[in-house]
Amino acid sequence: MNHEMIIDETKRFVRNWFRDAEGGHDWWHTFRVWRTARHIGEKEDANMLIVELGALLHDIADSKFHEGDESIGPRIAKDFLNTQGLSEETIREVVDIIINISFRKEDGESQKSPELKIVQDADRLDAIGAIGVARAFNYGGHKGREIYNPETKPKTSMSKEEYKKNNGPTINHFYDKLLRLKDMMNTRTGKSIAEHRHRFMEMFLNEFFKEWEGRL
Ligand code: ADP
Ligand code: NI
Repeated sequence: MNHEMIIDETKRFVRNWFRDAEGGHDWWHTFRVWRTARHIGEKEDANMLIVELGALLHDIADSKFHEGDESIGPRIAKDFLNTQGLSEETIREVVDIIINISFRKEDGESQKSPELKIVQDADRLDAIGAIGVARAFNYGGHKGREIYNPETKPKTSMSKEEYKKNNGPTINHFYDKLLRLKDMMNTRTGKSIAEHRHRFMEMFLNEFFKEWEGRL
């Protein structure tokens, strides 16, 4: 099978897989991450088959879908990749992306492959900018959270446990996580897109607070 055919087959597989998944993480998030990863990949030096497969399969591993079991996603991805006539090396590299992509696993020490760097940037970019704003309020609404509450200040630092339990208003999520993503980009291309999207979030927050105070 050639590159095109493998990617088409993978899209079909992932789209079908998300049919049964909860909202919030949907096929269209994966689709955007795939497109952004392709865009970044064109400007960086990387194996595009690994980038595209990693992007398409990256959220299958999310342990939220598997009662916290982090080994199920990579296994599902591996079983699928084994049916696509790929080399063991390629499969290993794609599964490595799926295992290592999460925000929560950032330890700053492990070596990242160029392909992982690209997919991770594309995933983080989808959490910021206009789409990031939309996703944050969608998530907050889904969890029944307030949009903002001036009496609940964002925490400047949180442990992993606190982050997971955190029930604060959605605006706080910008300070807890979203405004920090720009400085966590791996690639030059990712960083430059992030700067643009970051400025948009700052503009959004500025407007939000002016309106909140009745000044606009
Ligand atoms: P990932 O895309 O890394 O799997 P998450 O599952 O943590 O990210 O989040 C999915 C989407 O929901 C992201 O856009 C994220 O910003 C948003 N989100 C996660 N936690 C919160 C929160 N506490 N408040 C608002 N939005 C959130
Ligand atoms: Ni994702």
